[in-house]
Amino acid sequence: MTTSTHAPHLLSVTDLTRDQIEELLTLTDTFVEVSRRPIPKVPSLRGKTVVSLFFEDSTRTRLSFETAAKRLSADVMSFAVSSSSVNKGESVRDTIETIEAMGIDAVIVRHRSSGVPKQISQWTNASVINAGDGWHQHPTQALLDAYTIRSHFGSLEGRRVAIIGDVKHSRVARSNMEMFTSLGAEVVLVAPRTLLPVTTESWNVTATQDIDSVLGDIDVAYLLRMQRERMDEALVPSMREYSADYGLTMERAAKLRPDTLIMHPGPMNRGIEIESEVAQLPNAVITEQVFNGVAVRMAVLFMLLGSGLHLRNRAPDDSIDKEMIEMEGDQS
Ligand code: NCD
Repeated sequence: MTTSTHAPHLLSVTDLTRDQIEELLTLTDTFVEVSRRPIPKVPSLRGKTVVSLFFEDSTRTRLSFETAAKRLSADVMSFAVSSSSVNKGESVRDTIETIEAMGIDAVIVRHRSSGVPKQISQWTNASVINAGDGWHQHPTQALLDAYTIRSHFGSLEGRRVAIIGDVKHSRVARSNMEMFTSLGAEVVLVAPRTLLPVTTESWNVTATQDIDSVLGDIDVAYLLRMQRERMDEALVPSMREYSADYGLTMERAAKLRPDTLIMHPGPMNRGIEIESEVAQLPNAVITEQVFNGVAVRMAVLFMLLGSGLHLRNRAPDDSIDKEMIEMEGDQS
């Protein structure tokens, strides 16, 4: 998490040290518990205003952040900006300055161009959370995926994760690679050459084009969506051929160990990267990822806005103020 002179931000997985990641994952346990209560709401962020500023389409990420903010009792403002009407630097700046003038504490930004959340963080005194920028980063997705894996295996240390599919266009792949390797997992990318970035040398990962060679020996099969909206040329001969070569079919899923997790960030292209029935298998944890996403985002919002104890300057024995996460009771 970057703590500038102003508010702390979450722009990239690389902003987080391993200790900070572990701390966020531990805090997520608390918010998973809150999410299971009959009234899943705590007063932690009462009086704070959180804005979601989505310049690109989204269903789950946006709803997840808004639900998280509401469960922490923040006021939520929601802006849906079409990417075509506001896509120049100046207009983004005008938008953020207008929103800021209303008095806000955090802004959750999604944009089709890499770097926009960082740019916005230089224009506002509010905390900025990157909810996905171009092909670049999606740090809360990586946190929720790490949390989901950890909840099944106890930790990511020594686990082998295959990230399968359209790595080239995927901010989820970039964020997850960094997150998983920083938590001690081994990552193998599985994709045709055309769907890998030109070089993967600077990443601490291996790559293969042969999905069938890895299936029997992985703890997680993490499937990526084929991001056709980001392909300006034909990178695979046809979707049918892609599915035949890389899709997780029932036949391929049978080669996985029974405890291998099947994950997907959503939205799924059923029948392309994942066969419909595969998503219903007992070891497919795709809806668990969505459930955990709310709690992870509560933890992030709480860390940035709630306790006043920002990650970097917290003494090791500072514990979370228990009152902040106690039941709403009759206060609501
Ligand atoms: C991802 C995204 O938008 O980056 N979805 C998500 O946030 N759950 C992945 C994708 O669009 O393929």
